[in-house]
Parts: sequence; structure tokens; C-alpha cells
Amino acid sequence: MPADDEDMETRLSAGEVIEPPTSFVEQANVSQQTVYEEFATEWPECWARAGDRLDWETEYERVLNGGDPPYRWFEGGRLNACYNCLDRHLGAGRKNKVALKWEGRLGESRSYTYLELYREVNEFAAALRELGVEEDDVVTLYMPMIPELPIAMLACARIGAPHSVVFAGFAADALAMRMDSSGSQYLVTCDGYYRRGAPVHQKNKADNARIKLNHDVDATVVVDRLGDDTPLDANEYSYRDLLAAHRGAEVDPVPRDADDMLFLIYTSGTTGEPTGVRHTTGGYLAHVLWTSHAVLDIKPEDTHWCSADIGWITGHSYIVYGPLALGTTTMLYEGAPDHPEKDRVWELIDRNAVDVFYTAPTAIRTFMKWGEEYPQQHDLSSLRLLGTVGEPINPRAWKWYYKHIGNESCPVVDTWWQTETGGMVVSTVPGVDAMKPGSAGRPLPGIGAEVVDGQGNPVEPGEAGYLVLTKPWPGMPLAMVEAEDWFDSRRPSRPALDDFDWAYFSEDSAAVDEDGYFTLLGRVDDVINVAGHRFGTMEIESAIANVEGVAEAAVVSGPHDLKGQGVYAYVCTADGYSEAELRDHIDDAIETAIGRIAVPDAVVFTPDLPKTRSGKIMRRLLESVARGEELGDMSALRNPEVVGELESAVEGEN
Ligand code: WT7
Repeated sequence: MPADDEDMETRLSAGEVIEPPTSFVEQANVSQQTVYEEFATEWPECWARAGDRLDWETEYERVLNGGDPPYRWFEGGRLNACYNCLDRHLGAGRKNKVALKWEGRLGESRSYTYLELYREVNEFAAALRELGVEEDDVVTLYMPMIPELPIAMLACARIGAPHSVVFAGFAADALAMRMDSSGSQYLVTCDGYYRRGAPVHQKNKADNARIKLNHDVDATVVVDRLGDDTPLDANEYSYRDLLAAHRGAEVDPVPRDADDMLFLIYTSGTTGEPTGVRHTTGGYLAHVLWTSHAVLDIKPEDTHWCSADIGWITGHSYIVYGPLALGTTTMLYEGAPDHPEKDRVWELIDRNAVDVFYTAPTAIRTFMKWGEEYPQQHDLSSLRLLGTVGEPINPRAWKWYYKHIGNESCPVVDTWWQTETGGMVVSTVPGVDAMKPGSAGRPLPGIGAEVVDGQGNPVEPGEAGYLVLTKPWPGMPLAMVEAEDWFDSRRPSRPALDDFDWAYFSEDSAAVDEDGYFTLLGRVDDVINVAGHRFGTMEIESAIANVEGVAEAAVVSGPHDLKGQGVYAYVCTADGYSEAELRDHIDDAIETAIGRIAVPDAVVFTPDLPKTRSGKIMRRLLESVARGEELGDMSALRNPEVVGELESAVEGEN
């Protein structure tokens, strides 16, 4: 049965309540029951608890300016994110503590102490400066999970140049679109990397992207990952040579205003092209530091492993900025979870004595399918806390994780947030709250979130509604900070919500229970969440529509037992084209335009798409067909005869 349907019922009914283990509570960073109340009564000053954990070059004057937009967090404050992640730990007795532990794809590993990381980041910052990078210039980073990626991020942060990390698996077109959109003139990439034993030529993709760009790239830095000394052209520089040329260099961290941009990251929305979400320096860093402390319970002496890719926001916030701001050891894993064996993840936790493990429900369902014999081969007793993020977790997977990985002695935090929120906003506080498998929890202390109906009124317990954030939060993106009023920056797409005079609409639906716990029910826009990654159906549709022989295409989410949701494409062919041939071309087209991760799980060929009388494709109907659900009212349909054909075509696919 598809995982997200599996126990939707159980997720919504009053399920089990599990108290956090006493042994955990006793040592938790946050364990006072009063924390919610204190944050509520002291709001917004409560967020000083986060802000005051940062080192400011110039102290901020106010936690949040005034009651009206534009909202500025930590107004008047100046700070440098790299300083907060590195320099300040050197003096705190942590200079020889491991900051970054890298486990490579070929079984190699590398550790950087805080001092070593500081040195390399400084050398690379000096190199970037010499290449011409100035404050506020956007530097694009297109690298897999190698240490040079966080090093380059921190080097950019040091000189006040926002980074734009592009997921290494994205195609040349996707990279070009992002560089064009941000006007980025600097690129850091690598020659290639290994994927399932075979080299992927990353630099070829970067070269193709540069050809497609509408502007010149001033400098491209190439990290040698394959060890094959790729020949370099004009304006291309070897990372290794640059470091050698700047050996021992130190660069003063550039103080940034609290609301100066730290980075931007592209994410899919309802429009055809991904949009850049810009995050601030002070608010964002305070938010991810605080949630790493309060929710992930990270301590400086810990080894923390977040298994996300740095190409997504999760990696930015909970591999790089949050853990390093706390001075902990953060792990970076380049490989696959089943290579060389299916016990790889548990072997890494065992060998590195990992304290906190943060992963996605998709991964947990995969581990569950492989079986508990793999974790049983290892000593996982170093683990203290487990986390999940990216999509709803079904109670069965939750309980498996709790039992077989956490030995029923580690709390599980199911953290709901988005690229736009910068950091976690809904979750349990593990030292305070009871857990309910399948339900994320309440809005975190200091966060205003509600589930409302189409008129903006809170829904009754058990009913579904729209998840909205009703107060500004420190990690909110720059678009909202800059907007004259919030409302303009993020006008809810449900017209009735226009009356809600202050809310950020998340595009997720949820239900709330009697205790105020949120159960997430999925997106309400045209975004699908595949294995915790966001894709706009429009992006995939336009890639398919470009294939010769395709007359029309519609993309929706469908069931997938591991990924939660899969990509289902319904395709009408033009006369004279064979379906088998088209299927290959469709996959290739998506791989070229976006990347392999967006290739459909099912392609359903159909003579026609269901359309309303006004000619709009009925995507909801296509979703129901993919799920084998009751189809409900079809009176709006112009061509109801197509439905039967669709149903049998989907059956043929499954
Ligand atoms: C979308 C945001 C947040 C980092 C990873 C994804 C879904 C995220 C949960 C969760 C249910 C979740 C939502 C959200 N989502 N976490 N714990 N339970 N759904 O970031 O790519 O911006 O995607 O992921 O649908 O809107 P993103």
C-alpha cells in the first residue's frame, strides 16, 4: 500500500502518545515545561535567546522592529556568519576539535578541525577576492557532498558574497537558469564525482551551462575530485592551486547587516521556473542555531549527522550553519546508503559514534524494507535523538525508526518546515513534549502558526485546513522582510484568505488535534514532493511538452511506496509516434532539463486528457486516477469518456 495512504486514517485518529524518555529529558538543552508560555508572553523579545547565542560585531538595537512591516529582525545588528561558525570557536577551546567529518564515496574519510577548517576557508576566501568577488556578488556552487562545498559556502559568507548552491544532480539547463536568474558571475564546481561506482562528469555539465548563459562567467573554480587533472581553459582555476597560492592567508570577516543576504537557494513553486529564496544573515542564523539547540538538542561535544544533500535547504541549515554555529562536529556523507552494503548508514553511525541523526521518511521506509537485520549488526547506542523532515512520516515508519534505530530511548522529532521558513517551525520540543507518531507537533515556541479554513478562521480539531504562519519568524526570507507589507509579498492563493490581514500561506494543508498537534496532509498547490524534494508540475510538464511526438502532457503526484509520492505523467501522443520510443525520449528530456531525480515513475499514454468545459486540465481527477480513488463529481468534465481509458492505462502501468 502506498505509504502516504497507508495510515492516513491512523494519522488523523487519536493515535498513540509516547512520552519522551526520562534519560533524554534529564539532559535536554530545553526541558522547562514553561518554554511555550515564556516565548508567548515575551514575544518577540523571546527571540533574543536565539540572537544572544550569536556573536555580533555591532549589537542589535531591537529584536524586531515595531509592530508593522517591513519586519527587521535584530535591527541595527551587524555580524558575520562565517565568524560565528568558525572564528569564535577557536578561542573557546575548540580549535582542535573536529568541525567537519567527511565520509567519501570510495570509502575514504577526511576530518577538519575547527582550526583546519578556519585555515582553508580563509585561504579560499582570499582566492575568491583575488578572482574579483566583491561583497554582494553571487557565487554559484555546483558540487556534490565534498568538504569543498561547505568550505566554499563559509568562504563566501566570510567576504559577504551570497552563495547560491545548485544541487549537483541538476542538469546544465537547470544550472544555467539559476545563474541567469541570480546574475551570478562566479562558479565553483568540480571535475566530476562517483555515482554508484561510475564517474559523473560534472564539469561537462557546468561547461554546457556556461554556453547557455546570457552573460559571461568571470571565473570558474574547479575542485579536483576525480584526481584526473582536467585541463583548464581561460578563466578557469584549479581549487588546489588557488589554495597553494594563498597559503596562510587570513581575511577579515566582513560585518553584514542582520538583514543582508547570506545566501539564496532556488525552489519550485507553482510557476514554470524555480524561484530564488533569499535568506538573511542574522535572523536566519539565529533561527537555525536555536532550532539545532532546542529541537535537535545538539551540544558542542556531539557528532551530528544530517543525511540531506547540501544542495537543499535542509543541508544548508542543519549540516552547515546550525551545527557549526553551535561548534559541534558535523558529518558529511558523499555515498549511497547501500554501498558497499545495506548496513552502510548504521556502520557510519557506529564507527563515528553519532549522537543525533536527522533524515527523511523516504530513507526510513527504505531502511525498513531492507530489514532490521542491518541496524542490528551495529552498536547504535551512541544515538540520543532522531529526526525526520521533508514529507509526512507514516506511523508505521515512525515506530520502526523509534524502535529499531532509537531502541525506544531516543525521542523522534518530526520537523515541518520549508525552504521559505529557513528553519524548523512546527515540531515537538523533545525535552518537553510527548510524541505522537504521524503528527509533527505544535508550532515551536515563538512561532505563530494556525490551521485555518478558506475564510481564515481556525478549523475545528480533526478538520483539514490551510497551514499559515501568523507572526513573523527570524528565519523568514528577505522577500518578506523587504515587502511593504507581508501580505503583498505572499498573497494567499485562496481568495477568501484575503481577509486574513497577516499571514504567510505555506501551501500545505493540515489538521489539528485537541492538543494542538499538527498532522500534515500535503501540498495544496501544483508542487509535488518526491522523496522530500520539491518539483513544480509545470516544470516537468514543459520538459515533456518539448519532446517531439508529444501532443500534450500533464504531471501529477501518484502513489509510491518508498518515496511517498511519485511523479506520474499523462501524455497524449501525436499521430505516428510509438509509445515505447517516446518513453525514452521523455526520460531523456527531463534528465536534460532538470535532472534524473525528476524522471517520472509512471508515464501513462492516453488519447486525451480530462478537461473542463473551459479547457482546463483536471489535475485533481488525474491524481485520483493515479491513486485508484473514487472519482467523485465529474459533471464539469467536457470529455468524461476519457476517464475509463485512463483508469485502465494506469492499471497497466502499476
Ligand atoms: C515542503 C517543503 C524543510 C526542508 C525539506 C523540504 C513538506 C517538509 C515536512 C514534515 C510533512 C513536510 C511540506 C512542505 N514537508 N517537512 N515534517 N511533514 N511535510 O523543504 O523543499 O521547501 O519542501 O515539504 O509539504 O511544504 P522544501
